[in-house]
Amino acid sequence: MKINGQRLLSDLKNLREITATPGQGVTRFSYSDEDRRAREYLARIAHEYGFTMETDPIGNITICPPGSDGCTTSSPGQSNTSGTGCTTNSSCQGRTIIGSHIDTVKCGGWLDGIYGVMSGMEVLRTLADNNAERNVALMIYAEEEGSGFGSTMTGSKFLTGKYKESDLTKLVDDEGRTLKDHLEECGYWDAEAFAKALPMSFDGIDQALELHIEQGPVMDTEGLQIGIVDTVFGMHVLEIEYAGLGNHAGASPMIGRRDAMSAFGETAVTIEKAILELGQGAVATIGKVSVSPGGSNVIPDSVRFTVDIRSNKNELTDEAVGIIRQLAAEIAARRSVECEIRDIADSAAIPFSRDVIEEMVALAEEQGLVYKVMDSGAVHDTAMLAPYTRAGMIFVPSINGRSHVPEENTNEEDLVRGTQFLMDYIERSTC
Ligand code: GLV
Ligand code: MN
Ligand code: MN
Repeated sequence: MKINGQRLLSDLKNLREITATPGQGVTRFSYSDEDRRAREYLARIAHEYGFTMETDPIGNITICPPGSDGCTTSSPGQSNTSGTGCTTNSSCQGRTIIGSHIDTVKCGGWLDGIYGVMSGMEVLRTLADNNAERNVALMIYAEEEGSGFGSTMTGSKFLTGKYKESDLTKLVDDEGRTLKDHLEECGYWDAEAFAKALPMSFDGIDQALELHIEQGPVMDTEGLQIGIVDTVFGMHVLEIEYAGLGNHAGASPMIGRRDAMSAFGETAVTIEKAILELGQGAVATIGKVSVSPGGSNVIPDSVRFTVDIRSNKNELTDEAVGIIRQLAAEIAARRSVECEIRDIADSAAIPFSRDVIEEMVALAEEQGLVYKVMDSGAVHDTAMLAPYTRAGMIFVPSINGRSHVPEENTNEEDLVRGTQFLMDYIERSTC
């Protein structure tokens, strides 16, 4: 079945306009007005095609074509026997979830997440256009980026039980409002539905799939058309707070200061050096810093910053976290500032299912595509689902390897090719 590439591209361009920062990339935080408008866009398509659309108490969305058992209005857990039937694939024995996210980082790109969502929608529409009934559901995972509450993959962490009801009030935004506050304000929160629907049941689910831009330089540099993901990096986010002594910038001699900002500056360069020395592909990023009180003529009394630490091996990530904890404590002690270190979020490195990878490789070989089996340094909701069901991911190239920035881009030809590849994979692996 051939997808409609122009329809896909036109949707992506329309959704690019739903941003809180016009002219400065896409800013579409979960539970914001822009998020609501993007959901309405999806709802209009679902309505036009007669798909059901349900939102759970965390804001995760499930969209199902008629004949899929993915939505609670029909009976979950049964494989579809009323459609075209299982023809080619022996692994065809339940529902396939295609999913990704519509939220973005601040001033991010136009493709991260939404590309996988609209590709999934394009697959559902192509099936409908061809009167082909398959047991497929599209999931839109809420708050993947962690832009609001500092923890990535929030929606899928609730779906899989990593986050529980008690976490609703532990996840707090920069204004001190909890995740639960936002869910109530959006009208998603429903205690009874939460108890009933979360964590979700994986009975009757055959596989979870996600199509995404690579977000790194490998495919663009090597001239690849399709990436087939092996392992998604594990990540650990620390929040470190240095508390020093605020004082007058002019009247305080350099000797004897307890400057929280200087402690931070030394820490930033020492972390970079230590992780470079550790090597093996581990990475660490300080992406968010707040300085108090923030006056040009005041020695900062406190600096709070995040460190995002990742690698494709859990032991290596743990080692990097240990190194960073130790060096932060040492620098603080030497500079007589207090140091508090909090764990904000973590997720393990997850390898995808061998048989899904092999099936994707076989398809890429058959189609003569230039492909590679590769790791993902970015995290993805489908990796959260991978311990519970067969799972796999497909990548398309990112121009110059840029992502999480307004310059994020992918050639239209690559966007269409990736969605057609997902469609072809769905055709041979679902019933
Ligand atoms: C999400 O995009 C992440 O990898 O941080
Ligand atoms: Mn993403
Ligand atoms: Mn992202």
